[in-house]
Amino acid sequence: TQTYDIVLLPGDGVGPEVIAAAKDVLRVIADFYGHSFDFSEHLIGGAGIDATGDPLPPETTAACLAADGVLLGAVGGPKWDGGARRPEEGLLGIRKAMGLFANLRPLQVSPVLAHRSPLKKEIVEGVDLIVFRELTGGVYFGEKVRTDTMASDLCIYTVPEIERITRAAFKTALQRRGKVTSVDKANVMATSKLWREVVTRIHAEEFPQVQLEHALVDSMAMHLIRKPRDYDVILTENMFGDILSDEISVLGGSIGLLPSASLGESGPGLFEPIHGSAPDIAGQDLANPVGTILSAAMMLRHSLGLEDEASSIEAAVAAVLAAGATTADLGGALGTRAAGEAIIDAIRAIHWAAAHRVQ
Ligand code: NAD
Ligand code: IPM
Ligand code: MN
Repeated sequence: TQTYDIVLLPGDGVGPEVIAAAKDVLRVIADFYGHSFDFSEHLIGGAGIDATGDPLPPETTAACLAADGVLLGAVGGPKWDGGARRPEEGLLGIRKAMGLFANLRPLQVSPVLAHRSPLKKEIVEGVDLIVFRELTGGVYFGEKVRTDTMASDLCIYTVPEIERITRAAFKTALQRRGKVTSVDKANVMATSKLWREVVTRIHAEEFPQVQLEHALVDSMAMHLIRKPRDYDVILTENMFGDILSDEISVLGGSIGLLPSASLGESGPGLFEPIHGSAPDIAGQDLANPVGTILSAAMMLRHSLGLEDEASSIEAAVAAVLAAGATTADLGGALGTRAAGEAIIDAIRAIHWAAAHRVQ
């Protein structure tokens, strides 16, 4: 049996609830496939501030760097507003420390859930796209200045930073429908002008077989809800990717469904739902655990190389959603725990069917 070292970072708000559900799923996967997952939990965000004064205690960073994969719940909440340290610093810090420059945020709208979107079913049905969000540059990490009378956030991108996320997006497009939409604000921002130049060059030199289009972020925000099926791979910088990915979550019916993978050149990845700590529903067994469970599947695929195991989680989630066994955000009656158990039951059913299949 191979042992995989998995770091869990539950964090704040609904984080511990959705992580508990995902951990149960991973345990069942380990049993079925004969793996051993060695879980260790570490502090991040507000939980880290409360226990140690630090949103990213050094031992958390060390554990993440040594792990095979890291699964995070969420950080933040009103409790820490106005404090000297913010929970979000912990998340930004671990992304930087692990060198996680590529944040993959896939969205597939299942036909059975298309009616849950506030957009028309015929617009969202069949959407299948993935956002490649640059994660360690841009306005998030440039110098910040604050005086009594002014504040500034510097937005910086270097050519190598743009090149590496661009190559990652084009490589994925080759495995998909072969189209990349690069999103920027090249009519205003210097970083966006550079972004567009670098993407155009990498396309011409290395990926001419991929279809490339450029879009300005403001009209892209509109097109994404008007004709979302037109998009395959969406490549963009850190803050635009943050904003657009919450926007597209509406297509799928709930932000609670969307997973993400944050990857570097090498080393373990970090996997987390795209949603936050959802303070309005925290501690009430209301959060949808699907985004975290699908993030765990992405961890199995991208960091542990366990493709069959990842696919079986995804198939189980699809079956459970198709059966309408959902949490309240999708109109269902299940709590977080029950929704996780429904997925575990579906994994068992899929395995039973596979084991008894007549060849
Ligand atoms: P949020 O994503 O936490 O919540 C937005 C809305 O979506 C809320 O109504 C919430 O109840 C709902 N929602 C979110 N996740 C859900 C789930 N799993 N199931 C059902 N409903 C869900 O965004 P926010 O309210 O703007 O931010 C709250 C805090 O979370 C802030 O402190 C923010 O900084 C932090 N945050 C953290 C992360 C992260 O850890 N990756 C991401 C986004 C926001
Ligand atoms: C996300 C979040 C984070 C981000 C915050 C909490 C720092 O919104 O992961 O989408 O802006 O990247
Ligand atoms: Mn966000």
